[in-house]
Amino acid sequence: MPHDAQKRAAGEAAIAYVEDGMVVGVGTGSTVAYFIDALAKIKHRIEGAVSSSQASTELLQARGIRVFDLNAIGPIPLYVDGADECDGDKCLIKGGGAALTREKIVASAANKFVCIIDPSKRVDVLGKFPLPVEVIPMARSLVARELVRRGGAPVWRDGCVTDNGNWILDVHGLRITDPVAMERELNQLAGVVTVGLFAQRRADVVLVGGAEMA
Ligand code: A5P
Repeated sequence: MPHDAQKRAAGEAAIAYVEDGMVVGVGTGSTVAYFIDALAKIKHRIEGAVSSSQASTELLQARGIRVFDLNAIGPIPLYVDGADECDGDKCLIKGGGAALTREKIVASAANKFVCIIDPSKRVDVLGKFPLPVEVIPMARSLVARELVRRGGAPVWRDGCVTDNGNWILDVHGLRITDPVAMERELNQLAGVVTVGLFAQRRADVVLVGGAEMA
């Protein structure tokens, strides 16, 4: 099955988790775009969405789906998002699209996190995909030095400014055997806004398009 068809299959499969009257948390990326297309077809059944990025907000609104501010909503029953890598414990690397901070916020507010991926995203050990770390601009070099001390090779994502006005370091060369510990440790560094490891709040369900559904 072609790559895009796998992403579409995953996005469409997540519709099974949408219940009538829900406010749905919506992630960011090309797989989520397929989910948004499918969600638009049942938009009369839902209350609306909470979005994880400006890009997804625009897609949702263009399809006539109401977008709520997270502050106006209580806990969200469902969050649907893609990932850049997913290990066997449903821990994720996210942030390839630079939306990791708002994604982590909405995921944290959600009772259930359904992750939609194509089979290429599945790995035994996280880290082949460079780990995105969102940093306050003035702390870029400071954080980069700390990442080097921990065995990583950070690369400043050229020209990328996040929805929050920050910068991204993509950390190459990590082999992340303990994602919970690494997420906790990197979260402590001054100047780090968000680490693109979703391990403390990992996925609850992983739908792999074009493969058996995990
Ligand atoms: C956005 O910042 C990312 O976390 C995306 O969820 C991730 O990059 C997956 O994107 P695709 O669905 O486009 O592969």
